[in-house]
Amino acid sequence: MNTIELTNLPLRIAITMDGNGRWAELRGKPRIVGHRAGSHTVRRIVRACRRLGVQELTLYAFSEQNWGRPINEVDGLMTLLEEFLVQERDEILQNRIRLRGIGNLERLPPHVRESLELLAEASRDHQGMTLSLALSYGGREEIVDAARTLARQVAAGELTPDDVTEERLTALLPSMRHGAPDLMIRTGGELRVSNFLLWGAAYSELFFSDILWPDFQVEHLYQAIAAYQRRQRRFGLVSNSNTLGPCPTSLSGS
Ligand code: IPE
Ligand code: IPE
Ligand code: MG
Repeated sequence: MNTIELTNLPLRIAITMDGNGRWAELRGKPRIVGHRAGSHTVRRIVRACRRLGVQELTLYAFSEQNWGRPINEVDGLMTLLEEFLVQERDEILQNRIRLRGIGNLERLPPHVRESLELLAEASRDHQGMTLSLALSYGGREEIVDAARTLARQVAAGELTPDDVTEERLTALLPSMRHGAPDLMIRTGGELRVSNFLLWGAAYSELFFSDILWPDFQVEHLYQAIAAYQRRQRRFGLVSNSNTLGPCPTSLSGS
């Protein structure tokens, strides 16, 4: 049983939804069956986060590297994505969820891009929760894009090299628009980041679960949040009771 304190929620949660393929293979089924089962998990976790009052949920749905998978798997994933965007449209709008895509969206097939753009446009002013779908997303690629933009501004004489600051780079990263993730969850048992939110992850709390994504229940989400709430975030400092360090007078012995 996991008890969650509603006063100390991770406001921004990011999830690497991994393990669909293995879930299907364990059942002797094609991988796409696992992806379909995984899309049901997406629905229940989005609802749960919305109910809890999470401000932003970022879901790693398809990486830039995933384009290298067999064409039938990629096509199947794109079809599922479009189905999700069409079927969830009403619920997303009714729940005042703001949906957006982050990643190299130009690479998505036009039919998927269009559904995404329509829903992003229809929900752009919603304040309920931001649902960011990382699609054709890569953390390195996102940082390179931002660096290229800054380099162009320097080349054009609009900025000097000293103007290339952490703040300016952050401002150019779509994944950082609402801030860095507080809690990053990865299902499926792998202990790696796989090119997700590299910049924002600098001080995120990490939670790894062995559960394969199609089996991930709301209870598992609560487990991750409860674990987050038991941790102390320090951001490179010392714990709260010691934030000022040793008292100088006691060091001098006076
Ligand atoms: C995650 O599940 C979904 C995507 C990457 C699109 P996988 O398809 O990677 O599942 P496993 O890791 O092979 O089990
Ligand atoms: C990360 O999972 C990408 C998504 C969940 C969309 P992968 O299955 O692609 O990552 P690796 O290959 O195990 O690192
Ligand atoms: Mg995987």
